[in-house]
Amino acid sequence: MANEAKLQVDGKDLALPIFSGTENEHAIDIANLRAQTGLVTLDPAFMNTASTTSAITFLDGEKGILRYRGIPIEELAEHSSFVETSYLLIYGHLPTRDELKTFSTLLTRHSLIHEDMKRFFDGYPGTAHPMAILSAMVCSLSSFYPESIDAMNVAERDITITRLLSKVRTIAAYAYKKSVGQPFVYPQNHLSYCANFLNMMFSVPAEPYEMNEELVKVMNLLLILHADHEQNCSTSTVRLVGSAQTNLFASIAAGICGLWGPLHGGANQEVVEMLAMIHKDGGDVAKFVGLAKDKKSGFRLMGFGHRVYKNFDPRAKIIKGAADRVLKILNIDDPMLEIAKKLEEVALRDEYFIERKLYPNVDFYSGIIYRAMGFPSSMFTVLFALGRLPGWIAHWKEMIESPTTKIGRPRQIYTGPTLNHYVALDQRK
Ligand code: ACO
Repeated sequence: MANEAKLQVDGKDLALPIFSGTENEHAIDIANLRAQTGLVTLDPAFMNTASTTSAITFLDGEKGILRYRGIPIEELAEHSSFVETSYLLIYGHLPTRDELKTFSTLLTRHSLIHEDMKRFFDGYPGTAHPMAILSAMVCSLSSFYPESIDAMNVAERDITITRLLSKVRTIAAYAYKKSVGQPFVYPQNHLSYCANFLNMMFSVPAEPYEMNEELVKVMNLLLILHADHEQNCSTSTVRLVGSAQTNLFASIAAGICGLWGPLHGGANQEVVEMLAMIHKDGGDVAKFVGLAKDKKSGFRLMGFGHRVYKNFDPRAKIIKGAADRVLKILNIDDPMLEIAKKLEEVALRDEYFIERKLYPNVDFYSGIIYRAMGFPSSMFTVLFALGRLPGWIAHWKEMIESPTTKIGRPRQIYTGPTLNHYVALDQRK
């Protein structure tokens, strides 16, 4: 690859350096473009724009590769735990035995939320979407830890990260308990990260909760698979908000809001609701594939397509295998899984999907597992947020610790009225 690109504007030649990453990705560096030509670039939806360099996650959408800190997602899915993967993403290397022990102990010790905060849940209607509660509560954590508000306070950074990673489970479980009218269940220090979360979600005071170790493993697996995905909508939101030196809690709360949308993390809830609709309609998947191809129908196959994967999403492959296993373990025969598989089969043979390289994404099969585990569909995106948290944190940390970070501030090209004058109310037509 050449080390510069040439741009000709108004007869003048401009040399633009080409920046190369460690995996042979190349970008035209336009940092001096405006200063030298007066021009900016126009790239709605960032289809061609790398907003940053990053050393956290590598993905190759053409080849279906995803690696955290260089380690293939398949290896982490098989051998790692969510806590270990979180450490890897946030601190840049696999922890030693001692580092892992310290990190796990800190996560165990910081799981309680302030008793006053528990009362916030009373103010929400029982029908409140748990994503609304989650984002508000995560932002509210900053009010209990005022020392965390200075994002540049290095001494507070690690403890803030620990608090957030630990307490988010408690908040998520309480949001669920609120929606079903059950008492909150306090965290238990003898339980592992994922087991603790499952216990807070599903145990009730009336009877002991039997922990199913297979489900703990699946929970770890799903959270690992969601843990980072470089500059997606929610992560870019976290980085943009954080670039104003906004504290971690507030930056992550913004990311949670970004994730909620149905085109992003909210798709996992939409997928299961779509599958239920197809099932109720008689299960004719070809009819719905036809609808998805008809632009006038307004219907999309949720859980299909991705901005960067133009090949199989490696996460979807692993989750599909896990869905079969979990349903077997739990002895559940869910017609949704059959419909999903048929839908995938019909779509992947269809010219429309082949031409546009539309494959199942991470959200296509995850909901089927969550459903089998007993999570209501409104909690699916919350589970995505729990998984994505270490990724968001890693990006916020990478950005805030980089000496070259400047506040994010895109330009625009104005297309509104040219100079216009104020007209008094009685003279307007
Ligand atoms: N069903 C039917 N057609 C689709 C779908 C779909 N799910 N996804 C994309 N297409 C079509 C588009 O209509 C478009 O067709 P055209 O070229 O004839 O106009 C073409 O494929 C390209 O799609 P875009 O929407 O331009 O692609 P973009 O990269 O902007 O969007 C997105 C990606 C938002 C994920 C899209 O594929 C989608 O809406 N999928 C369904 C929602 C979903 O599953 N979101 C989760 C993504 S994963 C995540 O964020 C965690």
